[in-house]
Amino acid sequence: MIRVLFVCLGNICRSPMAEGIFQHLVDQAGLSDQIEADSAGTGNWHVGERAHRGTLNVLRRHGIAYDGRARQVTLADLDQADYVVAMDTDNVYDLRYLDRRGRLDSKLHMLLDFAPPGSPPEVPDPFYEGNFEYVFNLVEAGCRGLLDHIRAERGL
Ligand code: 4NP
Repeated sequence: MIRVLFVCLGNICRSPMAEGIFQHLVDQAGLSDQIEADSAGTGNWHVGERAHRGTLNVLRRHGIAYDGRARQVTLADLDQADYVVAMDTDNVYDLRYLDRRGRLDSKLHMLLDFAPPGSPPEVPDPFYEGNFEYVFNLVEAGCRGLLDHIRAERGL
């Protein structure tokens, strides 16, 4: 199984959205038995909570169900993942701090590095901005590019 772990700050807005969208794309591609998505947050404020209402609503509008609960990322998660995909540079900084021994470097990515040229480098945080539909479009573009990247890299 190829494990893809999406990481944001709170694990209630962006990374659950990415997990839901990416898993949906994987299912549509018929690759569910080869690729699995998960998500976690660098912070612990929302551990155990459902995703933000804005994330759940925008996913539902696009026909995607999501019922995960927030959790905080651990070193074991980083060990087990094949691709660790951050939403912004703060997430990358926090993950590098968690992973002081540098085992993560080769698997750490920024989601929008996989989005088409001209996309912003970071996924803005809708927790503060409330722009869930805009964020959905960015995250979806990144997820499509990420899936293409993994398929090419793994010959799927
Ligand atoms: P997320 O958004 O990282 O996309 O889940 C946030 C959620 C909660 C907080 C910040 C960002 N917070 O400060 O509680």
